[in-house]
Amino acid sequence: VVSLAGRDVLCLQDFTREELETILKTAEMMKIWNKIGKPHRVLEGKTLAMIFQKPSTRTRISFEVGIYQLGGYGLYLNAQDLQLRRGETIADTARVLSRYVDGIMARVYAHKDVEDLAKYASVPVINGLSDFSHPCQALADYQTILEKKGRIAGLKIVYVGDGNNVAHSLMIAGTKLGANVVVATPEGYEPDPKVIKWAEQNAAESGGSFELLHDPVKAVKDADVIYTDVWASMGQEAEAEQRRKIFQPFQVNRDLVKHAKPDHIFMHCLPAHRGEEVTDDVVDSPNSVVFDEAENRLHAQKAVMALVMGGIKV
Ligand code: CP
Ligand code: NVA
Repeated sequence: VVSLAGRDVLCLQDFTREELETILKTAEMMKIWNKIGKPHRVLEGKTLAMIFQKPSTRTRISFEVGIYQLGGYGLYLNAQDLQLRRGETIADTARVLSRYVDGIMARVYAHKDVEDLAKYASVPVINGLSDFSHPCQALADYQTILEKKGRIAGLKIVYVGDGNNVAHSLMIAGTKLGANVVVATPEGYEPDPKVIKWAEQNAAESGGSFELLHDPVKAVKDADVIYTDVWASMGQEAEAEQRRKIFQPFQVNRDLVKHAKPDHIFMHCLPAHRGEEVTDDVVDSPNSVVFDEAENRLHAQKAVMALVMGGIKV
């Protein structure tokens, strides 16, 4: 039996394989309860503060709907409207929020901001995307892969594009869960070296593998999963034009996906920049599972909230 009560969810590297599998199992249960209409108000009366420094569609809505379905209440807090904007520290904000709410979810620029929130809050802190990682996304991604492929271990999961926050979380969770993760980026846009080292260590322990390439065609050969994300993340708008040129050979289009297994699935955390990192014919193809993936944000995050804020044991 695994308990995650009180844990922060900042980076999936902090979790064991067994803990990740517990979250995925709970997410599957949440989805079934949701589909059959079985009440599951396991966080009755609890509140979640949701701080946003950046825009969001999926994260905001899935957390807000998710906490409501669990019997709780979510407060959307634009960081610009908090005293944070006028210089109140993250530490003091964390201490104050902890007197009101049972959990904090935050979407931030600097990863250190979620680390500081977690350090000073006495309630669990969940990372809703930082410049370093996007753990809730990867949990929904692996829930989707498990549903579509029936397993994770042994699959070839290929990420093509920028070595960013989404790539980091996909690499970390995939290598912990025994997948063969391949990342193909342009030179100079590789994942953080620390995450590459983690991925290699995780793979050695799980029986999976990790490989970093600069050739997208070679990378996607016989892939079970092809994953991409935007070329310029939030906060990198000034680099967008330059990146469009550099990343062009890494576009996921019909020619590229031909090299994958015929039954591969295409994934993207969304929002997609259609015509840039992915073409319409790929994102709208029968192989694309992007909307199942978006839906699973709801189920996976409900699992996370129930486990860390509620103390249910699975
Ligand atoms: N994938 C994702 O996190 O989407 P939002 O930016 O809409 O929350
Ligand atoms: N890498 C993207 C993901 C958005 C969900 C970003 O950080 O903007």
